[in-house]
Amino acid sequence: MRRSGRSLLSSVFPKYSFDLSLSVSVAADRSPSLSELPSMDASMSVSLNSPHFVAHTSFTTSKLKHDTSRPSLGICKCVSSPPTEQTAYATKVSRNANMAKLQAGYLFPEIARRRAAHLSKYPDAQVISLGIGDTTEPVPDVMTNAMSERARALSTVEGYSGYGAEQGEKKLRSAIASTYYKDLGIDESDIFVSDGAKCDISRLQVLFGSNVKIAVQDPSYPAYVDSSVIMGQTGLYENQRYRNIEYMRCDPQNSFFPDLSLISNADVIFFCSPNNPTGSAATREQLTQLVQYAKKTRSIIVYDSAYAMYISDDCPRSIFEIDGAKEVAIETSSFSKYAGFTGIRLGWTVVPKELLFSDGFPVAKDFNRIVCTCFNGASNIAQAGGLACLSPEGLKAMQSTINFYRENTQIIMDTFTKLGFNVYGGKNAPYVWVHFPGRSSWNVFAEILEKANVVTTPGSGFGPGGEGFIRVSAFGHRENVLEASRRLSQLYK
Ligand SMILES: Cc1ncc(COP(=O)(O)O)c(C=O)c1O
Repeated sequence: MRRSGRSLLSSVFPKYSFDLSLSVSVAADRSPSLSELPSMDASMSVSLNSPHFVAHTSFTTSKLKHDTSRPSLGICKCVSSPPTEQTAYATKVSRNANMAKLQAGYLFPEIARRRAAHLSKYPDAQVISLGIGDTTEPVPDVMTNAMSERARALSTVEGYSGYGAEQGEKKLRSAIASTYYKDLGIDESDIFVSDGAKCDISRLQVLFGSNVKIAVQDPSYPAYVDSSVIMGQTGLYENQRYRNIEYMRCDPQNSFFPDLSLISNADVIFFCSPNNPTGSAATREQLTQLVQYAKKTRSIIVYDSAYAMYISDDCPRSIFEIDGAKEVAIETSSFSKYAGFTGIRLGWTVVPKELLFSDGFPVAKDFNRIVCTCFNGASNIAQAGGLACLSPEGLKAMQSTINFYRENTQIIMDTFTKLGFNVYGGKNAPYVWVHFPGRSSWNVFAEILEKANVVTTPGSGFGPGGEGFIRVSAFGHRENVLEASRRLSQLYK
């Protein structure tokens, strides 16, 4: 039986090898004869766990009508191994042990795998994605015109330029300083233009090295934790947490602002406001507390303001609006969510001159060295687009893109609120954080995908504090957001 089951599966999945075990329950007084087995009612549950399959996908195949005169099949357990290269050759290089500590896949590729599996199960499903926070609306003309002009100029002798300054073009650095940090004491030389905030988060981790302890909001954008693991700052993963990371719980009970007195000994505090995934923004008083805490403990805040322009009330847009922040904080930000630059790739990080390591050495000098070593400057075409974003026309265009996503956010919030859910975020961020008390986030994710063909993001993917929540992103075409809302209203009516 082992042989026939394996060859059946191998013919369906030729690239996979299978270890199939089948338990057959029969009447106690007899064993199945070999001749009976091939024609038995073969109801098999198969678990595939490989990079190409969603973890624990299962399907059932039934070949023959059940015949009570035949022995009935019990549990059929099948474990596949991923396709292996048919080679005995391996290099002498051992795997980076920190990589082995990482849990499963990075959240968003895992969601993409689950979506693909859903589509292969239901090829005609009209799946709407309100999952990954990727923008959907076209980049305004003012930006694309500037970029195409710059691209065309590259074909001329006068307009050609090769490598630029690793820190970014002076004009763009200056425009970022005057647009977002006017009167905050941030100079253009404090600004490092980059290919996006996510890349800068990793560069900052390289800057800090493996001997620091980080604290993160729980839940938080996964890049802080994963880059910390990769750098070797953490221990193993136990009880849904990595050892040597401080998880600062943010939930409705504390209005999504952590109790700082619970942090023990963090060197670097990653703090995202408005927060992805909870959608909540910290108030001036809260950020003042955070800066004072960092000062008292001589720690560094890495402040992620990738959604700052979504703030609709008087919460600060930058950590540098808080007195004393320049001595304790770095800020990273991005054009991704303001101007649809997720694919164009352009962001920046501010490292003030006032920020010093314990020995008095300026952090900015080391960061400059990291940038010059790991990066060769943002694309000159993208930087032309960034400069256009900060022109008066570009600022207006960004604002109207943001307003469009705000309206989407309102539609999603209204939908869940009307259905009786407790809904958080949304006001200052393009994310709605919906509570499903007592339920597993992945189960809710699966239910919404299965029954409404809508992709969301399970809260637990952002840390243990996200369990019981899902994040619904407002990035989407209007008709999709409306249709998703209709389907969700049907599902949870
Ligand atoms: C909080 C946060 N920071 C950074 C990023 C990444 O931004 P970028 O596209 O500039 O790499 C994201 C993207 O979703 C984010 O949510």
